[in-house]
Amino acid sequence: MSIDIPQITLNDGQRFAELGLGTYNLTGDAGVSAIAAGIRGGYRVVDTAVNYGNEREVGEAVRASGIDRDDVIVTTKVPGRHHGYDEAIASGRASNETLGLDRIDLLLIHWPNPSVDKYVDTFRGMLALRDEGIVRSVGVSNFTEQMIDRLLDETGVAPAVNQVEMHPYFPQTALRAHHRTHGIRTESWSPLARRSELLQEPVLTELAAAHDVSPSQIVLRWHVEMGSTPIPKSQDPERQRENADVFGFSLSADEVQAIGALERGRIRADMDPLTHEEM
Ligand SMILES: NC(=O)c1ccc[n+]([C@@H]2O[C@H](COP(=O)([O-])OP(=O)(O)OC[C@H]3O[C@@H](n4cnc5c(N)ncnc54)[C@H](OP(=O)(O)O)[C@@H]3O)[C@@H](O)[C@H]2O)c1
Repeated sequence: MSIDIPQITLNDGQRFAELGLGTYNLTGDAGVSAIAAGIRGGYRVVDTAVNYGNEREVGEAVRASGIDRDDVIVTTKVPGRHHGYDEAIASGRASNETLGLDRIDLLLIHWPNPSVDKYVDTFRGMLALRDEGIVRSVGVSNFTEQMIDRLLDETGVAPAVNQVEMHPYFPQTALRAHHRTHGIRTESWSPLARRSELLQEPVLTELAAAHDVSPSQIVLRWHVEMGSTPIPKSQDPERQRENADVFGFSLSADEVQAIGALERGRIRADMDPLTHEEM
């Protein structure tokens, strides 16, 4: 049985979904079958990156899934070592080859790496790929409000998506408000806080019992209520199904407020994009 995950429209008119599939660590044949199972189960947004080393697996999974390629929205990311105008163009072309899906639906800058100071040129290179038709939508990941403002000032283009760490411990309230003013879709990475102690928090286990769902489903429904697209990763088709099955119930304003009391910060304090850089 496939779950119907609602779709949305990005600020550039392209389609996206209210929930997607993370693929970090899903590699090799087991990765291909896990990702294909997710697509068959209803996931239509699939998140990969050059640095996950599994673009080939993602492409193969889309082809193996039996779902029309045009119904799947594949995201990949330009790594830090490919920052720069020409480098970003070469990076996007190489990802497109590796995926083997004719185009990249959404291309993100993986980390801004502010000390390198090349993210604006990188974004310009990605816009050139969009003009060429290799890429449908361009976006960013781990960008702050100020970095988004700089892209807007220097290129006149708002990213379609900003994929950032977000979960009940770190709800990104100010950043999401900034996104709303520019029509940028928030996408939540590590939406389950990487299965940390989050799923044992009493407020979540109590809400799970009240709604007859799991704590993971309460957390993922919270992302939907926040207007952010969570991309939970699971290698297991049963947990994938559980994670996608969050559109048959909703949380009240009081319940959302109760979850808000969990706020305490990032999973790892050293992952602040002002200082954390990845190549
Ligand atoms: N842009 C960035 O810088 C960035 C950074 C980090 C992550 N990401 C993306 O975001 C995706 C998701 O983040 P993440 O993988 O870090 O963390 P996550 O999705 O919050 O958590 C994944 C972990 O939770 C387990 N899990 C999944 N569903 C579960 C359920 N229903 N009940 C119990 N455990 C469950 C998974 O194990 P099983 O697989 O065994 O189910 C896995 O160990 C990544 O895969 C990647 O695509 C992006």
